[in-house]
Amino acid sequence: MRLHITGGTLVTGAGAAPADLLCEDGRIAALLEPGQAVAADERLDASGLLVFPGFIDPHVHSRDPGITEKETFANSTAGALAGGLTTIFEMPNAVPPVTDAALFERRAREHGAVASVDFGLWGQALGEENLDDLGGIVEAGAVGIKLFWGYALDRATKRLVYTYADASPDEVIQPPKVGGVYAIVQRVAAAGGLFSAHCEERGVLAAAEATLPHGIVSYADLLTARPAIAEVAAVTAAGEFSLDSGCRFHVVHVSARRTVAAIAALQAAGAKITAEACAHYLVLTDADVERVGPAMKVYPPIRTADDQAALWDGLADGTLGTIASDHAPHAPAEKAKPLAEQPAGIHGVETLVPLVLDAMHRGRLRPEQVARLLSEQTAATFRVDHRKGRVRVGNDADFTLVDPARPWTIEQTKLHTLHPTSIFDGFSGHGAAVASVIRGELAMRDGEPVGAPRGALVRALPEERG
Ligand code: DOR
Ligand code: ZN
Repeated sequence: MRLHITGGTLVTGAGAAPADLLCEDGRIAALLEPGQAVAADERLDASGLLVFPGFIDPHVHSRDPGITEKETFANSTAGALAGGLTTIFEMPNAVPPVTDAALFERRAREHGAVASVDFGLWGQALGEENLDDLGGIVEAGAVGIKLFWGYALDRATKRLVYTYADASPDEVIQPPKVGGVYAIVQRVAAAGGLFSAHCEERGVLAAAEATLPHGIVSYADLLTARPAIAEVAAVTAAGEFSLDSGCRFHVVHVSARRTVAAIAALQAAGAKITAEACAHYLVLTDADVERVGPAMKVYPPIRTADDQAALWDGLADGTLGTIASDHAPHAPAEKAKPLAEQPAGIHGVETLVPLVLDAMHRGRLRPEQVARLLSEQTAATFRVDHRKGRVRVGNDADFTLVDPARPWTIEQTKLHTLHPTSIFDGFSGHGAAVASVIRGELAMRDGEPVGAPRGALVRALPEERG
């Protein structure tokens, strides 16, 4: 099958220029001069559109199998496709979580049967319980090993336990202490993998929450209970382990000014540390809780306008190299609970691309930065760039076609997620994905899928270790 994409402006990290593209058998076969004649089975007219390397969201929790009352992989990837993503990386915390190579392969089969976009898989570190399995997960092609640092795990199901102060050790696996994290990083380093953690240091969180006489009642209390210093402490500890071991370390969902500074310092010291911004921290601040309500609760919390400004600066100077959604749905009844009781997490996989494109429309991000932040650097960070995120002959022919001026309004009821709800409901902006191509086939047009779901696994390449 030969698909000819004509008339568009190709945008990569190197710049934007008119170019046509020929895709053959799922791969990029040629970059062509605009208007160059070529035989093809199908043509896709991209006149007036920007043609980006397919957008990647490296941080999605579909909770499937096992927690499908909150979300399913079919729903989350349908939303991903509709929004303009061509690949997502699935977090490991389903039931059972991906904690060894056999579970990795099983999950790849399960997800491959229903995926609307291509996908990579994260593996999960449980602490001492699966240290010996981490190398196998990396070898299988996991994009990274994730530690839900600061969360306890249900001993039977390995589900995240959000509130565990009173739980008995029979019921929960407590989060590893700092030495336990060091042991995990060493194993991941030895395997040539990428380590990532939910970075909020649990001891700091406990001490901070203990200062609240009445517990968490207001959003200000939530910020007191989960201060930026908990994030800085975790990033600094794991960052030093990364520096020491040579392990690649990726900081997910950076939320605070001081964390950006800590990451920049570690990068300057030579640590192989990369970091992610998320749309909700870039678009909302604590002031928005008046309008959005307690459903805005997410860990780490959405902080101040000053923190937000530092995140934008971090994107501009390269300290933060990717933008993700951290799509982490819960059922509406759970999110309707008071602040202290409701689980943390928000929907976001379908709204990520329009929110980033709106920042481009406003001039906050240049098109080539968008190509880097939503595709090229994401693919390079997770070592899937032999197939994804790069416009070069031989790579997968994945493209997101963007109308940079198309106006949109987010209507939560139209989202494809299992429980269509969004903290961005009613937001409007400009710039939308109007079509996408996955492995050389038109997969989405005007927010609607074209053909049956046919997403497939992409395996990351472990780093060679000397
Ligand atoms: O708010 C959050 N919810 N933050 C996380 O890191 C995990 C997520 C979840 O899975 O619910
Ligand atoms: Zn997450």
